[in-house]
Amino acid sequence: MELKTERLIIREVTWDDLNDIFILESSPEVDEYNTLGIPDNINVTREHLRPFIEDQKAEVRKKYSWTIRLQATDEFIGHAGMTLTADRFKMGEIWYNLMPSHWGNGYATEVAKRLIRFGFEFLNLHRIEAGVATENKRSIKVLEKAGMTIEGIRRKILPIRGNWVDNYHYAILEDDPWDEA
Ligand SMILES: CC(C)(COP(=O)(O)OP(=O)(O)OC[C@H]1O[C@@H](n2cnc3c(N)ncnc32)[C@H](O)[C@@H]1OP(=O)(O)O)[C@@H](O)C(=O)NCCC(=O)NCCS
Repeated sequence: MELKTERLIIREVTWDDLNDIFILESSPEVDEYNTLGIPDNINVTREHLRPFIEDQKAEVRKKYSWTIRLQATDEFIGHAGMTLTADRFKMGEIWYNLMPSHWGNGYATEVAKRLIRFGFEFLNLHRIEAGVATENKRSIKVLEKAGMTIEGIRRKILPIRGNWVDNYHYAILEDDPWDEA
């Protein structure tokens, strides 16, 4: 499955992407607000990807994970995903990580908006959520530019390098006013 934006291709992950994703997850800048931690070796990333790749065979999909690539060159620039809850909630949660060399070009915002559209139009969701460490200013900006609304704070919920960190809870509803442009 492939989603396109003006500048990006968002393509479902395959095992061929393992090394690129391992390099991404090994970046200390990417890890700063991430609960996964830096992988000790590529097998840690392999096990992290496995449920997403196995889900591609499921009759009812629950997990999506995509590489983010530049349309112009097909260069790998990041990894994004969406996890769905039980069907009756019609709800999904999105996340994204970009290679630091590509930060600041509006790519994450482009990805977040496309995933929101995918969630509402293709998956027929009612509500899409995202969580972000309260200090993660870049990602907060992305979620707000993507049209999400802050709904609250979850105190000391994120285990990050041995500390408990606060998390802002964001969401957008299918009938919220939304402009993808
Ligand atoms: C968060 C992340 C995905 C943002 O990617 P990106 O492509 O640089 O995001 P965008 O360019 O779409 O938007 C970033 C915004 O943050 C702003 N920003 C950058 N540094 C900032 C700072 N220190 N304080 C406040 N805003 C900042 C930028 O100016 C930009 O807003 P603007 O377009 O209004 O100028 C990227 O930094 C990343 O991968 N971080 C590590 C992983 C991560 O935190 N993932 C999200 C987990 S919730």
